[in-house]
Amino acid sequence: MAMISTSNYLLDQAKRRFTPTPNTIPGMGLVEKRLMEREWQQFVLAEPPAGSGLKPVMGDSGLPIIGHMIEFFRGGPDFVLEVYRKYGPIHYQQTPALRSVLALGPDATQAVFANRNKEFSQRAWDPLIGPFFERGLMLLDFDEHMFHRRIMHEAFTRTRLSGYVGHIDSVATQVVANDWVVNDPRFLFHPAAKELALDIASVVFMGHQAGTDHALVTTINQAFTTTTRAGNAIVRKPVRPLTWWRGLEARKTLEDYFSARVAEKRSGNGTDMFSVLCHSEDEDGQRFTDADIVAHMIFVMMAAHDTSTSTMTTMAYHLAANPEWQERCRDESARIGDGALDIEALEKLETYDLVINESLRMTTPLPMNFRRAVRDIDLLGYYIPAGTDVVTWPSMNHRLPELWTDPDRFDPDRFAEPRSEHKRHRYAFAPFGGGAHKCIGMVFGQLEIKTVMHRLLRKYRLELIRPGYKPRYDYGGMPVPIDGMPIMLRPLH
Ligand code: HEM
Repeated sequence: MAMISTSNYLLDQAKRRFTPTPNTIPGMGLVEKRLMEREWQQFVLAEPPAGSGLKPVMGDSGLPIIGHMIEFFRGGPDFVLEVYRKYGPIHYQQTPALRSVLALGPDATQAVFANRNKEFSQRAWDPLIGPFFERGLMLLDFDEHMFHRRIMHEAFTRTRLSGYVGHIDSVATQVVANDWVVNDPRFLFHPAAKELALDIASVVFMGHQAGTDHALVTTINQAFTTTTRAGNAIVRKPVRPLTWWRGLEARKTLEDYFSARVAEKRSGNGTDMFSVLCHSEDEDGQRFTDADIVAHMIFVMMAAHDTSTSTMTTMAYHLAANPEWQERCRDESARIGDGALDIEALEKLETYDLVINESLRMTTPLPMNFRRAVRDIDLLGYYIPAGTDVVTWPSMNHRLPELWTDPDRFDPDRFAEPRSEHKRHRYAFAPFGGGAHKCIGMVFGQLEIKTVMHRLLRKYRLELIRPGYKPRYDYGGMPVPIDGMPIMLRPLH
């Protein structure tokens, strides 16, 4: 997923005003703590129909105009955990910027993701990212979504994934060895990983040859970055030359790029994802139109790169902070050696699986998921009127002490037998979502992350820039390390 942001002008103002200063490090500042401790005046979202037996949803507005944005941007899932503790699983928050019911805890997450009665639609994503990613798979609903998902599935079968791994590996090996700066505390892991993820995408998704088409690849990568950032715009209208307008222009650049190449891809037999989508069909022989392919490519590229970048960055930090886990991963990497990678080799990296899961638990790339009630509904016994936006928070569930032992501790073994803490509830651990819209690129993402981290650990020891260094995050959209996450790469040989 991209930098999905709930921000508009007001939110951005709040965020700017409260950009953390060294005085507020570590954790939250005094203002946020005070706000979180405050009791807000509660009111009823809507009275349940007489005789329904449903409870009304209570809520509050927080501070005038900016609502709870200060606590939200600075605390992210910790703030939401506070809400859960105070008010229970269903709580309404109303500000001019954002009005939504928070559906918290694993049971609420399950009800929303499972969506048994088809009560929740994806339309709540529209105000956030709709104009830039329209007709992307995640923005489709119900039967139409299933129709598209079945065709797209063809691009994610094991055979297809095997084909992608070699390409991912060749780009990762080259970039990590030659482009990343060693022995320098100014090396910032997050932007470097993001650039690498885009380079990988240009080869694996679009079919460029690694190291060629440099100017074109740069243009397209920039267009992706612009489109993705546009969701954070302060002025959310196409006013030249502001962010929203630039996002729409960048979307046009991407549409032109993909549209101009569909015919060529349809007639070729490439193994990149663009070519695969051109040839994919479901069991009934149904295929994508040209316009579908363009929309899906733009969405998939967006969905793939910020999420993987975030996970690699979190993982690099925890491995640097926990050298014993770094060594465990490196030992495992030593067993598969420096030969070309394939899925079978990557599957042997089981310690990496534990560390990836623990990284996704501690810093969940897509912390919350948006849905809209398509009719009046009963959510865990509460009355939700039609049209209400409902936001579920897997990242908060990932911090619940009732599900996880000592949740603030980096402890990858919690995912291994016999502890298997992620099995304590079906939705205890849901970094990839669940139900019909569960991430279709989950395995792809895991393979990409393992490939990059394997290549990295074979070459370098990862060190913190100073003992006790802890990253701070901006939770305005996806959690992004405010300082870019400096990590020291020490060559092993
Ligand atoms: C660590 C990496 C990743 C994470 C944490 C992640 C997370 C998610 C989540 C939570 C959703 C569900 C959103 C919702 O229900 O509203 C989702 C959907 C999706 N993801 Fe991922 N994702 C990752 C990597 C990828 C990759 C690598 C790709 C493509 C290659 C991808 C493609 C998609 C697509 C197409 C959807 C929409 C699925 C649908 O609506 O049917 N993701 N992802």
